[in-house]
Amino acid sequence: MKTILVTGALGQIGSELVPALRERYGAGQVIASDIRMPPVEDLAAGGRFEFIDCTNPRQIQDVVRAHDVGTIYHLAALLSVTAEEKPHIAWQLNMDGLYHVLETARSAGCKVFFPSSIGAFGPGTPRDHTPQDTIQRPNTMYGVTKVAGELLCDYYHRRFGVDARGLRFPGLISYVAPAGGGTTDWAVAIFYEAILHGHYTCFLRPDTQLDMMYMPDAQRAIVGLMEADPRQLRHRNAFNITAMQLTPSRLAAEIAQHLPNFQVEYKVDPVRQAIADSWPRSMDDGAAREEWGWQPTYGLADMTLDMLDKLRTKLLAHRVASASTAAGTAGTAGTDRGAQP
Ligand SMILES: NC(=O)c1ccc[n+]([C@@H]2O[C@H](COP(=O)([O-])OP(=O)(O)OC[C@H]3O[C@@H](n4cnc5c(N)ncnc54)[C@H](O)[C@@H]3O)[C@@H](O)[C@H]2O)c1
Repeated sequence: MKTILVTGALGQIGSELVPALRERYGAGQVIASDIRMPPVEDLAAGGRFEFIDCTNPRQIQDVVRAHDVGTIYHLAALLSVTAEEKPHIAWQLNMDGLYHVLETARSAGCKVFFPSSIGAFGPGTPRDHTPQDTIQRPNTMYGVTKVAGELLCDYYHRRFGVDARGLRFPGLISYVAPAGGGTTDWAVAIFYEAILHGHYTCFLRPDTQLDMMYMPDAQRAIVGLMEADPRQLRHRNAFNITAMQLTPSRLAAEIAQHLPNFQVEYKVDPVRQAIADSWPRSMDDGAAREEWGWQPTYGLADMTLDMLDKLRTKLLAHRVASASTAAGTAGTAGTDRGAQP
C-alpha cells in the first residue's frame, strides 16, 4: 500500500483523522503535515510528520515523491470567519493550495480527498432539504473557494482522471482540537464553557438552525467515501452529508439536561449571523446514502452525552497536568496542549 499524506493535519479534523487513519492503515503509512509543528510527545511517539505549506507546490511535490504518496487528504484551509477577515489569504490557501495538491496528484497518480462545506451554498439556495444538485451562489470568500474547489475536483477527474472525492461537511463538533474559525464554532465552544463556567455567550440567534455532525461520524464518512467502489459513485465529489440539525437553544437545552445550572445568553455578531443565515437549515444527503451507504450514528442526545463525558475527562487531565507542572517548575511556562475555549 502506498503512503497517505494529510495536509493541515493539526486542525480540528486532522487531529482525529490522522490517528484514525493510522489505526486503520498502519501508523507508518500515514504522514501528517502542517505549517505548525506537532506537540513533541507526538513526534516522540513516532508519528511521521512533514512541514508543508500548501501554498508552496514544491513542498507538496517533494514529500509526495520522497514518500511514494498514493492518497492526499487535503485539509489545509481557512474557515468561514477567518476567510472573511482575510479574503486574499483565504483565496491563496483554499484555491492555490488545492490546485497545487491536484496538480501534484495528477503527476504522481494520487487519489485526493477534498472537504467542502455547507458554506458552498448561498442565500439563493433552497434552505430546507437542500438538494445535492442545486443553486450555489455563496456570498462569502469561504463559499466561493469551496464551490470553485468542488468544480476543480470534478474537472481534474473528468479531464485528467484524478480520483478526487469529497464531502460537503456540516458544522463539526469535537473535543480533541479546538474549532478553527468557522461559523459553527459555537457548537464546540458551548461545551467548554458549560463545563468550565456554567455559562456561554452565543454569537448566533437562539433559533439559527444549521446542520451538524459529531467528529466520529465525520471520520467514518471520509473513510467510507474514500473506500467506496468508484463504480457506485455518480457524484464522486461534494456529497451532502448531515447527522442532525441544531439551533443554539436546542443544544443548550440538551446540555442543561446534564448540567441543570447551565445558562446561555445571546450577543449576536452580525458578520457570523449573516453567514449562518446564508447557509442551509437542513441538507438532503440522499445521494451519499444511496451511492456509498452513508449513515450517521450520533444524534443530539448521544453526541451531547459523549461530548460532556470526554471533554470533562480531558479538562480534568489538563488541570492535573497544569497543576503538577506549576508545582514542579514554578515560574516556568508549561506546555499548554489543553482546551482553548
Ligand atoms: N471543522 C468544520 O466544522 C468543517 C466543516 C466543513 C468543512 N470543513 C473543512 O475541512 C477542512 C479542515 O477543517 P478543520 O476544521 O480541520 O480546519 P482547522 O482550521 O482546524 O485546521 C486547518 C489546519 O490547516 C493548517 N494550515 C493553515 N495554513 C496552512 C498552509 N498554508 N499550509 C498548510 N497547512 C496550513 C492550520 O495550521 C491548521 O492546523 C477545511 O477545508 C474546512 O474548510 C471543516
